[in-house]
Amino acid sequence: MFNKNNNNYSRRRFLTQSGLGLLAFAGMPNLLNAMEGMGAMPKLPPHTANPNFKADVEIELFCKPTSVAILVGQQTQVLQYSARLLHGPKEAVTEIPGSYLGPIIRLQKGQKVRIHLHNGLSESTVTHWHGLHVPAEQDGHPLYAIDPGEKLVYEFEVLNRASMNIYHPHPHETTAKQVYHGLAGALFVNDEEETALGLPSGDYEIPIVIQDRLFDAQNQLVYVRHMHDRMMGFYGDRILVNGRADFQMDVDSRAYRLRFLNGSTARIYKLGWDDGTPITVIGVDGGLLEKPETKPYMMLAPGERLDVWADFSGRAEGSQLVMRSLAFSGVLPKMGMMMNHGGLPVGSDYPIFTAKVTRKVSDSPKLPNTLSSFRRYAIADTANPNKPVPIAISEAHMAMLLNGRSYAYNDVQDIERIPVNTVQLMEIFHAHGGGHGQTTANGGQEAGHQGGMGMGGMRHGGMGGGMGMGGMRHGGMGGGMGGMGMMMAMAHPIHLHGQSFQIASRSIANGNENDYATVHEGFIDNGLKDTVLVMPGESVRIIKPFQDFKGLFMYHCHNLEHEDMGMMRDFLVV
Ligand code: C2O
Ligand code: CU
Ligand code: CU
Repeated sequence: MFNKNNNNYSRRRFLTQSGLGLLAFAGMPNLLNAMEGMGAMPKLPPHTANPNFKADVEIELFCKPTSVAILVGQQTQVLQYSARLLHGPKEAVTEIPGSYLGPIIRLQKGQKVRIHLHNGLSESTVTHWHGLHVPAEQDGHPLYAIDPGEKLVYEFEVLNRASMNIYHPHPHETTAKQVYHGLAGALFVNDEEETALGLPSGDYEIPIVIQDRLFDAQNQLVYVRHMHDRMMGFYGDRILVNGRADFQMDVDSRAYRLRFLNGSTARIYKLGWDDGTPITVIGVDGGLLEKPETKPYMMLAPGERLDVWADFSGRAEGSQLVMRSLAFSGVLPKMGMMMNHGGLPVGSDYPIFTAKVTRKVSDSPKLPNTLSSFRRYAIADTANPNKPVPIAISEAHMAMLLNGRSYAYNDVQDIERIPVNTVQLMEIFHAHGGGHGQTTANGGQEAGHQGGMGMGGMRHGGMGGGMGMGGMRHGGMGGGMGGMGMMMAMAHPIHLHGQSFQIASRSIANGNENDYATVHEGFIDNGLKDTVLVMPGESVRIIKPFQDFKGLFMYHCHNLEHEDMGMMRDFLVV
């Protein structure tokens, strides 16, 4: 499939990296096929420290194989970040004892930060600061991946407002596997606006990193077993919170600040308290909302964050409240649901964690009426109010596409060139979904040049949802039809690197209302975002600034299996 030039280097590199036992990859033949379509990623000499950069915080960050106790019995082999603070305030690095998650990194807006990443894995890696607005060369683009034993130095200033961010690997085609095996951590930014609010902090501010994992009988992690696991995303049957199974927290009867992060590779959650208590949301990916919002439940897709005010005041000692993922539908094709092995189908109702009131206290902070202010853009402020930059979701044979193309290095198209210091209107949509004839046709033509066989159907508009599903049902996943028409029946969490964006509008095509009704009250669209869940049939318009930095900034599906299958592209800010 696709062009076959330039893949020798990356294939050789892949084979070298994959020879080692711990992470031997079940779907290797498929992965090799997928690689035929990729432009080779050059190997650059890793950045070294700039003596003129005066760091306020300096951290050594290691990633390496280790084992931890997750389930009862045998320890689980994982990959883990660990850190050592070389210079700066000691709250900059906090280990989470006994967890495979990386230490919590806490930075202040305005700090200058130097991080020395040491690759202790048996394959190449690079770390991305998901949510941070940093120069392209500091963003952990796969271009900067380092080999085993190598070191990469990052230097950047914290420009973000207060927010919860994520650091995780981003190497070409192996992001999902490395995250799944444990490489991820939370990175908080604090600023003066947030501090002045006096929100619950210290013991009263709790990270809730939700992941799902699949274990074998020896307590070892099981990952992708066949193509279906990557087409649909990989789903485990155990929910882990902060790296622990059956997570329970003991709380006082007062207000807490819960910082949610979906660190799963693919699983989407609909979070709600078991007794129907509404949820008070105070922030999302890019920081605090302007004012609190009350929701019956909240959706949390991979890569997204939520900041929640949870008030246990007035609850009796010994009482407990369970955070569940509630029932919903429509994020996977029906076929995907059927083939969702194991005991925990996406969209079923299951517990996430338990909060148990163990101490009665008499005072509690009050929820502020207003939380923050930030620059809001109108469509009229954008450089392209009548011509949104398209982010078209579609698929070809065994590949996921954005704007009609699979990821390739150095393959920037005209629509992907963005002038620096502009604010852009962008539209994320399903290319099959109708109503976007023009963009769809372009996508089809581009795929035509690549020889992408799945795209013809899209171009002629013949592959409706029903038809695509029919093909799957008869052909199965590995067969000739591949997933044609399937991705439009799936929800995709689309993430853009760099500055956060606003959600300007959502619209849903006819025919998806029933499924949509099970999720739509859980979207928190008023804050600053870097990842947005796009439901089947849905179009989402966003307004995103591209300020300060030129260079390559990725956009991709944060279903990490999709990302690794090529559902990723670069914007080149010029
Ligand atoms: Cu959280 Cu490009 O990723
Ligand atoms: Cu990111
Ligand atoms: Cu996706």
